[in-house]
Amino acid sequence: MVEISTSILSVEPENSVKTIYDLEVAHTDYYHIDVMDGEFVEKNTLQMMLEYTNQIKQVSNIPVDVHLMVEDVISHIEAYIPFSPNRITFHYEACQDNEEVLKVINKIKENGIKVGISIKPATPVEEIYEFLPFVHMVLIMTVEPGKGGQALISETLEKVKELKQYRDTNNLDFDIEADGGINLETIADVRKAGVDIAVVGNGIIKSENYTETIKELKK
Ligand code: DX5
Ligand code: ZN
Repeated sequence: MVEISTSILSVEPENSVKTIYDLEVAHTDYYHIDVMDGEFVEKNTLQMMLEYTNQIKQVSNIPVDVHLMVEDVISHIEAYIPFSPNRITFHYEACQDNEEVLKVINKIKENGIKVGISIKPATPVEEIYEFLPFVHMVLIMTVEPGKGGQALISETLEKVKELKQYRDTNNLDFDIEADGGINLETIADVRKAGVDIAVVGNGIIKSENYTETIKELKK
């Protein structure tokens, strides 16, 4: 069984509350919030994602999975603390040095929120090994961060397998999440690679029946 975290990046503002409600009824395990600052990635979704997160907190009790694609990680952590998300994930590549990585991890933890660390397709998993004892989740990007609707980069699934191997060999305890280009066509390979949580955007939002799609994805 894979858990599903539905990305609401491609949801139109006029449909957001209804979509949030429909996803709850369809049993998504998380709402995946893609926070983009227009610097770390080209798109800026800051305002939209704050509004959607506020709507989620008003409509649903399903956990919120925040994915920060931002340069100034600390200030965006602070912006999301009031929403008590289940988890905040930041990018390793947004930190200047290892000291800043540890500072960010502690900032999230001291607010009682679970920590995720994410790496882009080109970043080797070895670069984050030293942080793995301190995080709750690793997010392996299976597309270049920045937009939805892209094709999954299959080589990134090798990184999932390597990370799972390292976790099991070293008796570590963190979830592995994959994000980007995951849908009914690619979910089997993602599951086989050893992912615990799959982020799915267009594969659910553009589908006819959220309940059916999520049920199929979770199998
Ligand atoms: C991309 C985001 C992903 C994306 C997923 O930068 O982090 O969460 O929205 O959307 P799909 O599933 O359509 O690739
Ligand atoms: Zn994401």
